[in-house]
Amino acid sequence: MHKGLAAVILAAGKGTRMKSALPKVLHPICGQPMLAYPIQAARKAGFEQMSVVVGHQAERVREVFAGEQVSWVEQAEQLGTGHALLCAAESLAGFSGTLLLLCGDVPLLQADILEQFLNYHKHEKATVTVLTAEMNNPEGYGRIIRNNEQVLKIVEEKDAMLEERSITEINTGTYLFDAKFVFEALKGLKTDNAQGEYYLTDVVAAAVAAGKKTRAISVPDPTQVMGINDRRQLAEAEAVMRWHINSDLMLAGVSMIDPTTVYVDKTVTVGPDTVLHPNVQLRGVTKIGSNCTVETGVVVVDSTVGDATVLKAGSAIEEAQIGPGCKIGPMAHLRPGTVLTGDNKIGNFVETKKALLGKGSQSSHLTYIGDAEVGSNVNFGCGTITCNYDGANKHKTTIEDDVFIGSDVQFIAPVKIGRNSLIGAGSTITKDVPADSLAIARSEQKVVEGWALRKKQKKS
Ligand code: UD1
Ligand code: CA
Repeated sequence: MHKGLAAVILAAGKGTRMKSALPKVLHPICGQPMLAYPIQAARKAGFEQMSVVVGHQAERVREVFAGEQVSWVEQAEQLGTGHALLCAAESLAGFSGTLLLLCGDVPLLQADILEQFLNYHKHEKATVTVLTAEMNNPEGYGRIIRNNEQVLKIVEEKDAMLEERSITEINTGTYLFDAKFVFEALKGLKTDNAQGEYYLTDVVAAAVAAGKKTRAISVPDPTQVMGINDRRQLAEAEAVMRWHINSDLMLAGVSMIDPTTVYVDKTVTVGPDTVLHPNVQLRGVTKIGSNCTVETGVVVVDSTVGDATVLKAGSAIEEAQIGPGCKIGPMAHLRPGTVLTGDNKIGNFVETKKALLGKGSQSSHLTYIGDAEVGSNVNFGCGTITCNYDGANKHKTTIEDDVFIGSDVQFIAPVKIGRNSLIGAGSTITKDVPADSLAIARSEQKVVEGWALRKKQKKS
């Protein structure tokens, strides 16, 4: 931890243009709320001490980031970016080093850019350094007015004169300040501008007036500093981030047949030689092993998948642990609490929930396995159901190793089947079955010879 570094992130605005009941900074990008990205980038660049300024739905924002080591600062009324930073002064009382200011709605800014930015600021011994970008269309951004290296001022679009509007170097809203200087300068800000706000950008002119060094450095790629104001920009940012995630995975040995349709959250890991087919979603805290195949239409959320497992088309997997060498789907539904030890086969239209299956156990089609503990090498016939719910409570089905279950069997839980037993097709099992037994629970077949013929003759 650098003693002389601190960061403030501005996130108090409402985000009116999002047209949303959700605060702007909580809108997700590749599985994480927007605000998570500047927090992570600042931390990665060495800014451990951090204050986040919140206002609109402050409590809700704070709750989402409850685990983060940050100081929360409340800006009750949004009087402008300068006022927002001033609100953080108390949380940084006594701090006299270098202060980084980030906006909560600029999620694509990476730590390596911040590191270069900091190096430049230190090298120049500047009092204020602004991170800028060359934009083909600078509309809506503050413009950088320079005299060579010295930045004279930043002019907001709404306050800019015609010739100033043609300047293409814009303010990204990211700054490095001498902390002592900026908190003093903020006290002198006025609201005599087009928006009647306390502009943080006016600190630059204040530094020049005080005879200080001001600098600006441009990012190589302007998409890295794009601000999110509406949902089109949100989708654009998501596409950029998705491409970064997918290209990192491909460089690490993951194949994608069409990376433009693979949706992988930032929090997911995938092992080498795994192949992701088109239209796959891997979300949340998910870990996919190596040599796996994930076919089209598969959605995996908060789950672990072992090496050399095949997830076939259209399967939905949530909070499940799947061991190595499994074959899942097509169209299987693995619900929370499913644990497949390894070499398991779960076929089409099989649903599992809170079910532990030992090694090699399989259920190839049309089965419900819930609240069950199943040993190894158990074979489920087509149409087997663990009847776990009596309308009030859930009950457990226990099936030991090497049990063979015929088709269309119902287990009325709680019930236990001993190892190496065989359950006859069509049975409704209501009582425990000891090991090495045959259990058949169906009414005996009745045959009435000639009955059908007699019925036909009666009709004619
Ligand atoms: C600001 C800059 C502009 C820059 C642009 C880059 C000023 C005056 N202008 O304009 O030069 O080009 O960012 O994206 O700073 N916020 C608060 N409290 C407030 C006002 C804003 O916390 O009272 C937060 C917002 O939530 C947002 C950030 O500050 O995260 C920027 O505010 P916004 O209103 O979007 O500023 P811009 O008009 O985009
Ligand atoms: Ca903005």
